[in-house]
Amino acid sequence: MLWSALLIPVLFLEWSMAAPLLSQTKPGCPDRCGNISIPYPFGLGDDPSCFREETSTFQLYCNDSYNPPRLFNTGDDSTPIINITLQGQATFLIWPATYCFYSNGSLTDDSFNVILKMREGYRFSYTRNKFTAIGCDTSAFMSDASGLNFQSGCYSFCKSISNVLNGSCSGIGCCQTAIPKDVRILNLTQDNRYSQNFSYTSNPCRYAFLVDNDWFTFYVSDLWNFSKRVEYKINNIVALPVAMDWAIRDLTCEEAKRNRSSYACMQHAGCIDSSNGPGYLCRCDKGYEGNPYLENGCQGPIFGTLFLLIVSSWIYWVFQKRKLIRLKDDFFLQNGGMLLQQHLTSCERSAEIIKIFTSEELRKATDNYHESHILGRGGYGTVYKDVVVKEGDLDQIQEVANLAKRCLRLSGEERPSMKEVAMELEGLRLSEKHAWIEQNLEETEHLLVESPGSFDYSNAGYETITTKVNIGR
Ligand SMILES: *[C@@H]1O[C@H](CO)[C@@H](O)[C@H](O)[C@H]1NC(C)=O
Ligand SMILES: *[C@@H]1O[C@H](CO)[C@@H](O)[C@H](O)[C@H]1NC(C)=O
Ligand SMILES: *[C@@H]1O[C@H](CO)[C@@H](O)[C@H](O)[C@H]1NC(C)=O
Ligand SMILES: *[C@@H]1O[C@H](CO)[C@@H](O)[C@H](O)[C@H]1NC(C)=O
Ligand SMILES: *[C@@H]1O[C@H](CO)[C@@H](O)[C@H](O)[C@H]1NC(C)=O
Ligand SMILES: *[C@@H]1O[C@H](CO)[C@@H](O)[C@H](O)[C@H]1NC(C)=O
Ligand SMILES: *[C@@H]1O[C@H](CO)[C@@H](O)[C@H](O)[C@H]1NC(C)=O
Ligand SMILES: *[C@@H]1O[C@H](CO)[C@@H](O)[C@H](O)[C@H]1NC(C)=O
Ligand SMILES: *[C@@H]1O[C@H](CO)[C@@H](O)[C@H](O)[C@H]1NC(C)=O
Repeated sequence: MLWSALLIPVLFLEWSMAAPLLSQTKPGCPDRCGNISIPYPFGLGDDPSCFREETSTFQLYCNDSYNPPRLFNTGDDSTPIINITLQGQATFLIWPATYCFYSNGSLTDDSFNVILKMREGYRFSYTRNKFTAIGCDTSAFMSDASGLNFQSGCYSFCKSISNVLNGSCSGIGCCQTAIPKDVRILNLTQDNRYSQNFSYTSNPCRYAFLVDNDWFTFYVSDLWNFSKRVEYKINNIVALPVAMDWAIRDLTCEEAKRNRSSYACMQHAGCIDSSNGPGYLCRCDKGYEGNPYLENGCQGPIFGTLFLLIVSSWIYWVFQKRKLIRLKDDFFLQNGGMLLQQHLTSCERSAEIIKIFTSEELRKATDNYHESHILGRGGYGTVYKDVVVKEGDLDQIQEVANLAKRCLRLSGEERPSMKEVAMELEGLRLSEKHAWIEQNLEETEHLLVESPGSFDYSNAGYETITTKVNIGR
C-alpha cells in the first residue's frame, strides 16, 4: 500500500513533467517527425499558423520517404535536422569538404569546396563547433561568404601513421580551430597542393568540416576508415552533426518589446538577448516550465505539485479505508461469523447468551484491552473478561471455561471453530433451565480477539468476532 501510495504521486509527477514537453507544438499542428519533437516557433507543414513566419527559419517539413523520416527546413533537402531545443539550439547534419584518391593515384571528383549557407535565424555555434580537418598533408580553410571578413584554417601532417594518437586532434593526422561568432555562411575548402604523395591504404581521403565537438572524437582509424565509423550519412556519404544557435532575429529584447504584436515571448516568460548574432530568445520565468513562445505555454509546476499531493493523499486515504473495511469483513467470514450470526438469529433467546460485539463495544468492555482483563493467551488470540458473575451453575461455568481453554490452544486443529463453539453453547443452553442466565444481572464476557501471527490487529482495530458467555470465578 505504501508502495502504491508513493508510486501514484511519482506517476502523476512524471506525467505533469512530460505534459509540457508533449505540448510544445502549437495545438492542432503535427508535433514530431519520426522521433524528433518540434517545439514552436518551429512548425511542420504549410499552415502558417503552425510556425513563426517572419523568416524561413522555422518552417520545416518531414520527408517520410526516408526511414526513419527526415526533418528539413522547407526548400532544403541536403541538411537534415536531428534535434531542436527550446534553449535555442538545433543540430544539423552537414557534408564535409572531401578529397579522395583512387588506388591508381588519380583524384576522385569529390567536393574540395563546400559552401554552408544557413537560414536567417541560425548561426553556427561558436562554443560547440570546431572547424576540423583529417588527413596526412591536409590544408583546410574556411572563410565567410565573401572571404573579406574572416579567413582561417589549419594544417595537418603525419610523417608516419605510428605518430598519430587516438583522441588527439592537434596537428598530427587531425587539426582543429575555433570559429568566430555570428557566422551563418561558411566556405570550407581544401588545398591539394601538398597531399598527393601519401599512401593510398593509410589515407585515401582527407576531410574538412565543421562539427559539434561534444560529439566528435578523433581516432587513428579515421585516416583510412572515417566514413565507416561515422553513424550519420546523407545519400550514403558521411555527414557530421553541427550545432546551430537559433533566435528570433534581428531585434534586441528592448526593441522587440515595443511591438507587442510581433514580440515572441508570452505570459510568464522573459526575454534574453541572443549571444550569437542579433536577436533574442524567450525563457519561462523562474518557477514556470513549458514553451515560452506559446500562448499559456509557461506553466507553474509548483501549483501542479501541490494539486498532485492533495489528489494522491486523498487516493491513499480512500484505499486505506477500503482495505480496512475489506479486512474486517474477511476476518468476520474467515472465522465463521456469518454462521454464528445466522445461528443466533434463529433462536430467540440466544441474544442473551451470545452476542457479536463491534470493536467499539469490545474496547469499552475490556478497558481498552487492559492487562488486568486478560484471562489467558493462545497462539491465535487473547481471551479477555469483563465483569464478574455473582452466582451461577458451577458445572456450566466449568464447561464454558473448558471451552474457553480450548479456544486458546495453539494448534489450529485442536482449537474449536466458531461453528463448534456456537453449537456447544447452544447445547449448554438447551440442556439446562439456565436459571443463572436469566438471573444474572451482570455478565461476564469471554472475548476472543483475533490476532494471527505477530501482527497486532487489536491495536489496528480489526477485532471482529467475540462470543459472550457466562463464566464464574
Ligand atoms: C531517435 O531514434 C534514433 C534511432 O532510431 C535514436 O538514435 C535517437 O537517439 C532518437 N532520438 C531521440 C531524440 O529520441
Ligand atoms: C523526399 O526524399 C525523397 C528521396 O530522398 C526525394 O526524392 C523527395 O524529393 C523528397 N521530398 C521532398 C518533398 O523534397
Ligand atoms: C584511376 O581509376 C579510376 C577509377 O577506377 C579511373 O576512373 C581513372 O581513369 C584511373 N586513372 C588513371 C590515371 O588510370
Ligand atoms: C585507438 O582506438 C581504437 C579503438 O578504441 C583501438 O582499437 C586502437 O588500438 C587505438 N590505437 C592507438 C594507437 O591507441
Ligand atoms: C571559397 O573559398 C575559396 C578559397 O578561399 C575560394 O577560391 C572560392 O572562390 C570561395 N567560394 C565562394 C563561393 O566564395
Ligand atoms: C613522394 O614520395 C616519393 C617516394 O615515396 C618521394 O621520393 C618524393 O620525394 C615524395 N614527394 C613529395 C612531394 O613528398
Ligand atoms: C543533438 O544531437 C547531437 C548529435 O547526436 C548530440 O550531440 C546532442 O547532444 C543532441 N542535443 C540534444 C539536446 O539532444
Ligand atoms: C573499416 O571499418 C569497418 C568497421 O566499421 C571494418 O570492418 C573494416 O575492416 C575497416 N576497414 C579498414 C581498411 O580498416
Ligand atoms: C509590429 O509588428 C507587426 C507584425 O510583425 C507589423 O505588421 C507592424 O508593422 C509592427 N509595428 C511597428 C510599429 O513596428
